[in-house]
Amino acid sequence: MRDWIDFGMVRDFAAENTAAYRLCTKPEGWAECYGGDALVSYKTAAAREEILHELDEWARLANQPFQRVFGRFLPKQNAERNPPVLLLGTKEESLQTTVLERGVCYGLDFGAGYSTGLFLDQRENRRFVRRGAPRRMLNCFAYTCAFSVVAGMTGAETLSIDLSKKSLSRGRENFMLNRLATERHRFMADDVVSVLPRLARKGERFDMIILDPPTFSRSRTGRAWQVEHDFDKLLLSALEVAERDAKILLSTNCTRLNERALEVMGRFCLKASRRAGTFQATAKLPDFPPGVAARSIWMILR
Ligand SMILES: C[S@@+](CC[C@H](N)C(=O)[O-])C[C@H]1O[C@@H](n2cnc3c(N)ncnc32)[C@H](O)[C@@H]1O
Repeated sequence: MRDWIDFGMVRDFAAENTAAYRLCTKPEGWAECYGGDALVSYKTAAAREEILHELDEWARLANQPFQRVFGRFLPKQNAERNPPVLLLGTKEESLQTTVLERGVCYGLDFGAGYSTGLFLDQRENRRFVRRGAPRRMLNCFAYTCAFSVVAGMTGAETLSIDLSKKSLSRGRENFMLNRLATERHRFMADDVVSVLPRLARKGERFDMIILDPPTFSRSRTGRAWQVEHDFDKLLLSALEVAERDAKILLSTNCTRLNERALEVMGRFCLKASRRAGTFQATAKLPDFPPGVAARSIWMILR
């Protein structure tokens, strides 16, 4: 089936204990698998119907029936974003569920908001964190703390910062789901932009830093932040709390910024802060066509 992942890939995901992946990508929408649930995201009703029809056929051929199918409209404006709605399956089951990725358990909530709780296109960056086994990780714009959980699995101390208390409390639950005690993990509901200079003044240092900001944000005081204009300032602040050999993830969903632009910005910031470093591309995601996932690179300080 064109646009859909093949069954060999599904077997590969199952073999590595992963049940959350992109099923198909089309110009007007896509479908994702979250264990026994599927989520269809669409820009038009025609795209929704086409994907639903093909999902039914794919599930039959793959012998992988979905208990529930959710649908989510993809609006042009963020303000019009709504939680997914149940299209197929029983209403009695909880909208809160869990899913495995490489053996790590993540909580999902199909009713909490537009996003489910796990960004599938950060899978390879989560693996990079796990393999890098950091000592102290700073997770900026942490959302449900997925990056912190994988760092915690390898014994790191973590600090997760997000404006949303609700997301951080889901983050705590993700630690508990993986039987990780939270004593060595801090959760800070605050504005990353104002916290970073405070951490630097206190002399806090981290050997891994995650910078995955939203395209646009407004702090509690109403200050606007835009990734295209402000990512360099954010990275310069992050460099102030970076250990000599730190690894920093630069990631964005902004379609106007590609990996090349991130690297150019990274080189500028290295020079401005008199630091030295190289860049490493994020590994390719087998289930995402080129140019579809979040754009990201790792800055490796030395
Ligand atoms: C794209 S999500 C991050 C996803 C996360 N890196 C992951 O992989 O799960 C952006 C998050 O940034 C948070 N956020 C937006 N503006 C912020 C700010 N100024 N300071 C802290 N968090 C912010 C939002 O609440 C949201 O949870």
